Amino acid sequence: MTNPIGVFDSGYGGLTILTELKNKLPNHDFLYLGDNARTPYGTRSFEVVYEFTLQAVEYLFSQGCELVILACNTASAKALRSIQQNVLPLKYPEKRVLGVIRPSSEIIGNYSKTKNIGIFATEGTVKSESYLIEIEKFFPEIMVTQHACPIWVPLIENSIHETLGGKWFVENDIKLLLAKNSKIDTILLACTHYPLLAKIIQEILPENVNLISQGQIVAKSLVDYLQRHQEINDKCSKNSKIEFLTTENHLDFDKKASQFFSEIVSSKTVRLG
Ligand code: DGL
Repeated sequence: MTNPIGVFDSGYGGLTILTELKNKLPNHDFLYLGDNARTPYGTRSFEVVYEFTLQAVEYLFSQGCELVILACNTASAKALRSIQQNVLPLKYPEKRVLGVIRPSSEIIGNYSKTKNIGIFATEGTVKSESYLIEIEKFFPEIMVTQHACPIWVPLIENSIHETLGGKWFVENDIKLLLAKNSKIDTILLACTHYPLLAKIIQEILPENVNLISQGQIVAKSLVDYLQRHQEINDKCSKNSKIEFLTTENHLDFDKKASQFFSEIVSSKTVRLG
């Protein structure tokens, strides 16, 4: 691979985005990096998420990526803007970093009839208020109600989300969100890990509530971006190859990654920072 598109997440969650990127851009090469050794990011401070995310982005740049997607809402909320505004112009003027919050915010309002949207996200994403700010720009008439689910990522990373105990936590958070605003008819899973819970959530949610995952939205937005920025698209290598990097043990990553990704994964361990 010469110039793959970099895809970064704090752990496995970004694989739910990569699945859709690969479907929409089957010829492009991708290099996935999961910072599994330091996950979760959702409960970490702004400064730490920024530092870890920048290390990951710079690592992907060093591997030939001209374009990196932060397939992590927490990293997008806490690090994207600073990287775009302060780091790229000075150090990497030719390279690009994109996130997942903007594409989701641009479209989510179209799903709601009641104009009441619920957001499930990590504590960090909720506290950043990025979704409130971004959705307001595109759908000022929509009421957005957020709910942080700090336990969901550890449940998923440790493969206990399908146990009775795991489901109890999921159900409890659903009830808490809907108790905050009973008019919600659309919920965005604003953490890339959460699509792994989609089936369980769907079983618990009232039938009139739409459940939206970000993968297809982000993939469509990237296709549009590459069409509008042919100069970036031309730099991306296209041999239909996907490679995986993790900051944890690569054998553990390969085993668990298969829950999140449809193909056999064979990763390498790398150190960041
Ligand atoms: N998957 C990441 C997100 O979309 C966060 C998970 C974590 O807390 O590390 O927000």
